[in-house]
Amino acid sequence: MKYTQWIVILFCLIGMTACRQDAPRFRIGVAQCSDDSWRHKMNDEILREAMFYDGVSVEIRSAGDDNRQQAEDVRYFIDKGVDLLIISANEAAPMTPIVEEAYQKGIPVILVDRKILSDKYTAYISADNYEIGRAVGNYMASTLKGKGNVVELTGLSGSTPAMERHQGFMAAISNFPDIKLIDKADAAWEREPAEVAMDSILRCHPKIDAVYAHNDRIAPGAYQAARKAGREKEMIFVGIDALPGKGNGLELVLDSVLNATFIYPTNGDKVLQLAMNILEAKPYPRETIMNTAVVDRTNAHVMQLQTAHISELDEKIETLNGRIDGYLSRVATQQVVMYGGLVILLLVAGLLVVVYNSLRSKNRLNRELSEQKRQLEEQRDKLEEQRDQLEQQRDKLAEQRDQLIQLSHQLEEATHAKLVFFTNISHDFRTPLTLVADPVEHLLADKTLSDDQHRMLLLVQRNVNILLRLVNQILDFRKYENGKMEYTPVPVDILSSFKGWNESFLAAARKKHIHFSFDNMPDTDYHTLADVEKLERIYFNLLSNAFKFTPENGKVTVRLSALTKEDDRWIHFTVSNTGSMISAEHIRNIFDRFYKIDMHHAGSGIGLALVKAFVELHGGTISVESDEKQGTVFTVDLPVRTCACETSSLEESPVSSVSEASSLNDALPIEEEELEKNYDSSKPSVLIIDDNVDIRSYVHGLLHTDYTVIEAADGSEGIRKAMKYVPDLIISDVMMPGIDGIECCRRLKSELQTCHIPVILLTACSLDEQKIQGYDGGADSYISKPFSSQLLLARVRNLIDSHRRLKQFFGGGQALAKEDVCDMDKDFVEKFKALIDAKMGDSGLNVEDLGKEMGLSRVQLYRKIKSLTNYSPNELLRIARLKRAASLLASSDMTVAEIGYEVGFSSPSYFAKCYKEQFGESPTDLLKRKG
Ligand code: FRU
Repeated sequence: MKYTQWIVILFCLIGMTACRQDAPRFRIGVAQCSDDSWRHKMNDEILREAMFYDGVSVEIRSAGDDNRQQAEDVRYFIDKGVDLLIISANEAAPMTPIVEEAYQKGIPVILVDRKILSDKYTAYISADNYEIGRAVGNYMASTLKGKGNVVELTGLSGSTPAMERHQGFMAAISNFPDIKLIDKADAAWEREPAEVAMDSILRCHPKIDAVYAHNDRIAPGAYQAARKAGREKEMIFVGIDALPGKGNGLELVLDSVLNATFIYPTNGDKVLQLAMNILEAKPYPRETIMNTAVVDRTNAHVMQLQTAHISELDEKIETLNGRIDGYLSRVATQQVVMYGGLVILLLVAGLLVVVYNSLRSKNRLNRELSEQKRQLEEQRDKLEEQRDQLEQQRDKLAEQRDQLIQLSHQLEEATHAKLVFFTNISHDFRTPLTLVADPVEHLLADKTLSDDQHRMLLLVQRNVNILLRLVNQILDFRKYENGKMEYTPVPVDILSSFKGWNESFLAAARKKHIHFSFDNMPDTDYHTLADVEKLERIYFNLLSNAFKFTPENGKVTVRLSALTKEDDRWIHFTVSNTGSMISAEHIRNIFDRFYKIDMHHAGSGIGLALVKAFVELHGGTISVESDEKQGTVFTVDLPVRTCACETSSLEESPVSSVSEASSLNDALPIEEEELEKNYDSSKPSVLIIDDNVDIRSYVHGLLHTDYTVIEAADGSEGIRKAMKYVPDLIISDVMMPGIDGIECCRRLKSELQTCHIPVILLTACSLDEQKIQGYDGGADSYISKPFSSQLLLARVRNLIDSHRRLKQFFGGGQALAKEDVCDMDKDFVEKFKALIDAKMGDSGLNVEDLGKEMGLSRVQLYRKIKSLTNYSPNELLRIARLKRAASLLASSDMTVAEIGYEVGFSSPSYFAKCYKEQFGESPTDLLKRKG
């Protein structure tokens, strides 16, 4: 904007200078009455003279002897605002008003040759027409020797020269009485009217001695008429003007057409000089009268020579003027060029300044930008590194999560197995315990027993009961978990039930000096439907615990009340005891089965889980709070039910998702637990599937030093373990009960998780047909029993090695041999490799995207790729990128940065870092080596 303003100002200044040079100082208008050679001469002289003045423009208009036209011309000049007017009035009277108007408007007016009827003009310049008329009169009188008839042909009778030339002539001939003016006619300053007028005069006058013509155009007209009448010799002809040039006065004298002519000077130069004096406010005469002289045969020749010389000089002046004009126009052009050049120079200079400034600011901006870019790149490197680390952490987390899930499954299975085990044991315990309890009861009835014997038997009975209760609790809990718990609601008055059950604890209270209190909200109805037996178990369990954990002199309190929650009535009771405190961490798990707070808390850890199960069976809730101040408080809420239909059905009670039958089958055998404990993942693993334990242990013995060995006793166990452990190799017997070896192999090869595992089939049968079946099932090798241990070991080694080659596939870039890998894996790996190749340029590509493309979840893809290649998908992606980069570096002319972007690194420096980590040298080092 700033620069544009300066350029505009510059152009204005130059424009103004140029305009000032062209604008004239003075504009002069010339209004001529006629258009003839005398006027032409005068006009030329005016224009020539104007050239000697700076800044003067002259415009000439000719009216063609028409008063109206001349008045319009004057009006034009007034309107144009000329600085001065030169007027030769066609006729005096008609032209007077317009000339006066111009003069009154302040325009200086010079009258030339012809006057107006007013003195409202600035100056007058002309020869004295009266004097010329008088000179003509005297010349004629002398030539005619004082006697003769004269004819006068005048100019336009309304013009002042015509009037004055007549008056002067009359004055002169009045001194000669024998000189008579016999006729006079208006020839309007022109030849044709003169010829016509002379013709009629000749007819009227038989003797004419002289013709007085008012100018040199009228005279030849009269001569021509006389000649036509054959009388030209009898008279003399005298004219006025004496102009040089063809057909003009001087030539007419020399040609003897005229006897004489009188000089009527044009003096255009003098007219302009006068105008300039006026305009430049110099002194000037108001009236300038110029001289006249007679031209006849005595001086006409000299005159002609002089005028020819003068016109030559005039021509030279014209030529000179032309040259000056050319020179001036060249100067003007040069000036324009110069100014133009100056402008261009200034513009260029301005532009240079602008460009220089822009370059400076561009450089500054570039510096700032590259600094910002550098910082951004640094940040991006860090982010990319962090992203990679995050990806790795995520992979690790996924791995850990897998392990945790596996662990939790194992834990679940272990717990389940424990429970099954306890259930079985409990079943086994109950019969003998019953067989102990019953005889003890009989013995106790014997009155002959000594006190000590009776006491000891009571001790036995009490402990047998405890054992029975524990056993029953376990069995009940299993029933509850399996959804087989019976629920038999009957109408109960909870208040009276609780009061009755309290009595069982009075002895314990007394013995431990425990203050046992029971509060109940009075005037409350505690009737409801409940399974009395289970309610009793709930109450006894909570109170037993309370008494067990309350120290001597402590307090156990039961509070019974009723409340309303969302329009439903609930029975609410708390069992609290002082002196024991359960931490928040334990409280969270206290109702879990087998959960024991610590070693000091006796019991199986199933009692509270069972209490919770019984409460839930009633549709109720149980919770516990514990702190040092108030001790431990168990709170139970049971909904009040009035009819059996409201009770929760068995189906509503929590049911274990694993059925008893299946859970027994799923239980981990002891040897599998041991296997998992001792599983050595650093060695390749081999799964042996054989129903013959001797064969298993034999092969186990062959392999266990170099391999981690897993055993399965039949086909289905084999499949389960293959899925679970994904071993590096499977050796399977063909003939097995249930799923045989061929079917087992077929199933393993059809599962994506296991299809890559090589399978060796072992069989006692060496029939080719069976071998074909085995290979059709996807077996990788076939060994007949009895087999050589060396052969088996060699085959195991070879198959595991060839599988390793597959793992090197991405690292080494070898093509896959068909026999190395099952079709499904080959397709999978090829597809994955093609996917990486196609997409590696995308720096935002991640494992989720790859998984999606492969039709697997992120975790599934991770496991599969890891088991096939030992690399995580991310590692493979990076390795593939770096390998491509290495080949581009070796084969293309691309820069390191271009290659980095090409293979999907979003930052060249991060690319260089990873490359160096992978190949031990930076890409730049490689290029140097190459170049
Ligand atoms: C030219 C002219 C001359 C004459 C003069 C008188 O127009 O006719 O021949 O002398 O005017 O005004």
